[in-house]
Amino acid sequence: MLEKLRDKRLVFVGDSIGRNQWESLLCLLSSAVKNESSVYEVNGSPITKHTGYLVFRFKDYNCTVEYYRSPFLVPQGRPPRGSHKKVKTALKLDTMEWTSSKWRGADVLVFNTGHWWNYGKTIRTGCYFQEGGEVKLKMNVDDAYKRALETVMKWIQTEVDSNRTRVFFRTFAPVHFRGGDWRTGGTCHMETLPEIGTTSLVSSETWDQLKILGDALSHHSNGSETVKLKALNITAMSAQRKDGHPSIYYLGSLGPAPLHRQDCSHWCLPGVPDTWNELMYALFMKQEASSSRRVKEANVTVS
Ligand SMILES: *[C@@H]1O[C@H](CO)[C@@H](O)[C@H](O)[C@H]1NC(C)=O
Ligand SMILES: *[C@@H]1O[C@H](CO)[C@@H](O)[C@H](O)[C@H]1NC(C)=O
Ligand SMILES: *[C@@H]1O[C@H](CO)[C@@H](O)[C@H](O)[C@H]1NC(C)=O
Ligand SMILES: *[C@@H]1O[C@H](CO)[C@@H](O)[C@H](O)[C@H]1NC(C)=O
Ligand SMILES: *[C@@H]1O[C@H](CO)[C@@H](O)[C@H](O)[C@H]1NC(C)=O
Repeated sequence: MLEKLRDKRLVFVGDSIGRNQWESLLCLLSSAVKNESSVYEVNGSPITKHTGYLVFRFKDYNCTVEYYRSPFLVPQGRPPRGSHKKVKTALKLDTMEWTSSKWRGADVLVFNTGHWWNYGKTIRTGCYFQEGGEVKLKMNVDDAYKRALETVMKWIQTEVDSNRTRVFFRTFAPVHFRGGDWRTGGTCHMETLPEIGTTSLVSSETWDQLKILGDALSHHSNGSETVKLKALNITAMSAQRKDGHPSIYYLGSLGPAPLHRQDCSHWCLPGVPDTWNELMYALFMKQEASSSRRVKEANVTVS
C-alpha cells in the first residue's frame, strides 16, 4: 500500500471514529517501515487528543496520511446576529467544512459522519441548523443530516477532480452500549467474544443512519466503477464486534475507567478498524484494476 501511496496524500475527514480509523492505518503502514524516525507528524504535534488536524509523513515514500476533525462535515459556528436566545451555535448546512480547501486536492479522501447527528449533541446543547442566513428552529436532526450530506455530495461532484481523487464514504460504525447510552451508564463490560450473527444485530438507530447515508450516496453513485465515490460499508460486520471497544481500558496507564463511563463506541487497536482499512485497500485495488483494464480495452479497440 505504501508503494501505491508514493507521492500521494490520503486524508480522513470526520469524527473521532474517523480518527480511530486513521490511527489504525498509521499503525498498519508504519509496521512496514524499518526506520521509525522517517515517520513523523509534519508540525511535530503530539498524537494525543487533538481538535484540529494531524499530518503524518512517511518520508521514504513522500506520502502523507492526514486526519481533519470535522464531526458534521459542515461547519459549526456562531449563529447570525439577532438569532433566538436559545441558539448558542449553528451548523451551516449548505456550506462545506472550512478546512476543505486544505484537502480538496488529496489523492484519496475518506469521509465519515453520523455519531454527532443526534439530539443530544445538537439541539440539546443549543446547536441549531442554519440555511442561508436563517436559523431553522423547527428543523429536526434527521432532516438537517440529509441536507448536510447533500451539501457534501454536491461538493464532491463539483469541487473534486474525479480524475485525481478517489473518494470513500465510510458508513456508520455501530456502538454497543447496553443498559443506556454513553451518558446514562450504558456499558460493554466483560464483553470478550464477538456475536456472530445476522444483520438483526444492527440497532434501529443505526439502520436509520445507514438509510439516510445510503439514499444520499445512491443519488450520487450508481455502482459503476467509473464513479469515484464509493461506500465503505462496514456497519453490519462491525455490529458483530461488541467485544472490540476500549470499555473500561481507555485511560491506559491511569487505570480502569469507572464502570458508568465506559467507551463502547471507539475501537481498540489493533482491532476492528484495521479490517475497515483492509477493505478500503481492496476497493482501492479493485478500482485500479478495473481502470487499467479499461485502458487496455480502449487500446485494443484503437489497434
Ligand atoms: C512528493 O509528492 C508531491 C505530491 O504529494 C509531489 O508534488 C512532489 O513532487 C513529490 N516530491 C518528490 C521529491 O518526489
Ligand atoms: C531515519 O530517518 C531519519 C529522518 O528522516 C534520518 O535522519 C536517518 O538518517 C534515517 N536513518 C537511516 C538508518 O536511514
Ligand atoms: C479527466 O480525464 C479525461 C481523459 O483524460 C478528460 O477528458 C477530462 O476532461 C478530465 N476531467 C477533468 C475534470 O479534468
Ligand atoms: C450497507 O450494507 C447493508 C447490509 O449490510 C445494506 O443494508 C445497506 O444498504 C448498505 N449501505 C450502503 C450505503 O451501501
Ligand atoms: C452510471 O454512471 C456512469 C458515469 O456517470 C454512466 O456512464 C453509466 O451509464 C451509469 N450507469 C447506470 C446504470 O446508470
